[in-house]
Amino acid sequence: MWSLGFLAFLGVAAAEDGLNGWLRYASLPCSGQCRSNLPSTIVTLNTTKTSPVYVAGTELKIGLKGVYGKNVQVTHNKCKVSSSIIVGTIDQYRRSCGAVNGVPDLEEDGFWLNTKGDNVQIFGQNERGALYGAFEYLSMLAQGNFSEVSYASNPSAPIRWVNQWDNMDGSIERGYGGPSIFFNNGQIVQDLTRVAEYARLLASIRINAVVINNVNANATLLDPTNLDGVGRVADIFRPYGIQVGLSLNFASPQTYGGLSTFDPLDASVIEWWSNITAQVYERVPDMAGYLVKADSEGQPGPQTYNRTLSDAANLFAKEVKPYGGIVMYRAFVYNQLNESIWTDDRAKAAVNFFKDLDGEFEDNVVIQIKFGPIDFQVREPASPLFANLFNTSMAIELQVTQEYLGQQSHLVYVAPLWKTILDFDLRVDHQPSLVRDIVTGKRFNRKLGGSAAVVNVGTNTTWLGSHLSMSNLYAYGRLAWNPADDTQEILQDWIRLTFGLDRKVLDTITRMSMESWPAYEQYSGNLGIQTLTDILYTHYGPNPASQDNNGWGQWTRADQTTIGMDRTVANGTGYSGQYPDEIAAMYESIESTPDDLLLWFHHVNYTHRLHSGKTVIQHFYDSHYTGAETAQGFLEQWESLQGKIDTERYNHVRHFLDYQTGHSIVWRDAINNFYYNLSGIPDQAKRVNHHPWRIEAESMKLDGYKTYNVSPFETASGSVAIVTISNNTAGTASTKIPFPSGTYDLAVNYYDLFGGQSQWKVYLNDRKIGQWTGNSEDIFSHTPSIYLDGHSATRIKFRNVKVRRGDILKIVGMPNGTEPAPLDYVALLPAGIID
Ligand code: GCU
Repeated sequence: MWSLGFLAFLGVAAAEDGLNGWLRYASLPCSGQCRSNLPSTIVTLNTTKTSPVYVAGTELKIGLKGVYGKNVQVTHNKCKVSSSIIVGTIDQYRRSCGAVNGVPDLEEDGFWLNTKGDNVQIFGQNERGALYGAFEYLSMLAQGNFSEVSYASNPSAPIRWVNQWDNMDGSIERGYGGPSIFFNNGQIVQDLTRVAEYARLLASIRINAVVINNVNANATLLDPTNLDGVGRVADIFRPYGIQVGLSLNFASPQTYGGLSTFDPLDASVIEWWSNITAQVYERVPDMAGYLVKADSEGQPGPQTYNRTLSDAANLFAKEVKPYGGIVMYRAFVYNQLNESIWTDDRAKAAVNFFKDLDGEFEDNVVIQIKFGPIDFQVREPASPLFANLFNTSMAIELQVTQEYLGQQSHLVYVAPLWKTILDFDLRVDHQPSLVRDIVTGKRFNRKLGGSAAVVNVGTNTTWLGSHLSMSNLYAYGRLAWNPADDTQEILQDWIRLTFGLDRKVLDTITRMSMESWPAYEQYSGNLGIQTLTDILYTHYGPNPASQDNNGWGQWTRADQTTIGMDRTVANGTGYSGQYPDEIAAMYESIESTPDDLLLWFHHVNYTHRLHSGKTVIQHFYDSHYTGAETAQGFLEQWESLQGKIDTERYNHVRHFLDYQTGHSIVWRDAINNFYYNLSGIPDQAKRVNHHPWRIEAESMKLDGYKTYNVSPFETASGSVAIVTISNNTAGTASTKIPFPSGTYDLAVNYYDLFGGQSQWKVYLNDRKIGQWTGNSEDIFSHTPSIYLDGHSATRIKFRNVKVRRGDILKIVGMPNGTEPAPLDYVALLPAGIID
């Protein structure tokens, strides 16, 4: 029998629910040199329990016990102990223990880690830095890394924030990990245990502030009881070196305060905000600052009174300045547009609104700019606003929550996408001007700068809704600290910390993750046409038509012969002219525009040839097939890890990847059918609209089922599905199998709607071979749909089914609630065929 210790050693430890994220401190073997390398005492140079240095001591103790089973005492302020870990600020060390050699000057929040010699030294420039150093050392230990190191690490920028889009009722806008850990029923929750656990995760990736409420802000957060609650939340975060910030609703003085106006220049309004700010700082003396979304998507703003965005930002900046706070003012300001005007372009909005205000902002205002000019699409060029503000501090806004990228039901490691932006050289004044150097303040000598990511963790024990998505949160923190880091190396640290040190586990999850964003791009929107999801509903499944013919400005301008936004100066919206000369010239010309952004900048025929030699339309078809095929591989790769990962997480991830295999095919077929239907140009490889192994539900013998025209049409095979005639009587669809006798995987495409939990049973010659329930709304993380569409379309697979030609395949669907047991088609897949 294997002992428990041995199993743990293999990394196949007890079931895990994900709550500890990458801070599991899972047991590793340790003997000989490892034992002698382990310190026997932890010395922390602060005795205050709520200080980050004290927390660092506790964390080190938990880590050493968890990873190497070693009980280590924590003592305080005794610096002359040998074989110890000494953690504190550099000043605390000098005061208590005397001079220290070889430590370079540290920047704010920076740390020094030295494992050479008798003691491990972890010194922060401040307490927060000391805690970061402790987590760095623990990360090494938890990865079995005993290298002798001695180095300083400093942040690239002071702003390393996360934004929660939590609403006061406990829901989370674009959140896929369950309800809020902060709010419920209009108030701050009483039990803040999860907040403390979140703080620990955030501190370990060096996040220093969290804005806890939605940018679409509710003014009732400002009521005294709720502000008391904010005070409690801040008390939980503070020991982890994390400050709290608040999103404001610009109209609060009127809607909540009862004034007749919210004009930012009105004296009564200014006084009102002063008073509120004083109340906030009374409870949270170190409040990080305010985040403001104004004049955007229906949110009130200064434009109501013909005031400028800088009038608005400066109003708050002046209020928080005496307390050391900052204002993050979002650049996400745009109006509804008219697609019949060729030059209208939402992508131009940020530069149009902000460029002329450069230099008008107070020095504690930071403009928070989404990475691309539209809205977190699967690929966008870098926002040109980064190259248009020289006297204004900026931060880049990223999304950990995968709003447009599969909502955590698809594996998408997003860090490589962020990297395309951070590493992009905007060539301001013909000088190197990497976005990462601009936002960190280096390029234009700004003191403030950095990044903010929309994270949206919830009460789900996986935090984000799925285990693998946590790589994105981890990577965000690492890149906020050092945007020059390599995304694969970051990923591999996360894998070792999350799933253990097994080589195959490391290689497999690395491969899947690194393939995942390219695959998602391939089976969603290619060549810079954007994600092609349903922008008018849940932002999840395919619906390319939803991009056009509305005022939102996420247009593709696709018609029967052409597609793409002409954003050139010569003939289009003029957007490319918002970039510095070299970049503008590159995008202006179709020859020098990279293929992957062609349709972002140019309006071309479907038959236009890319640099790759393919036509645009054939590229669409091929990419969708390649991307969906890659996604099928994720499941196989994961299954090769069975036994190497605890059962709970193995099964959870497996279930998600299985779902992704099916939904990537929904994407593939929907997009390909849509453009085939529009252009009439056939796929050279004869795959699109040609599915030899399918049997359409509508062509089966139906009893209690009727046909249903699905909208959008491309989200059903052949545009038609079947639904039960009544909402409480089962329907039956049956057919004779027309394929040669053999062993097949049986795929059934159906729709899983919100509003009911239908049950389906599959029979072969009256022998039941499988059944399932339409309960994905309770299992997966994405926003469910109440319609038969690209969000609800899904596939279940029964493997290795032996059939004979002429066998009768029958599916019985029992409707439930408003879900009429919908079916699209069945496919019998011979080995190696995806159809
Ligand atoms: C997107 C998102 C909204 C969000 C907005 C924002 O449009 O869909 O839910 O409020 O961005 O960033 O403000």
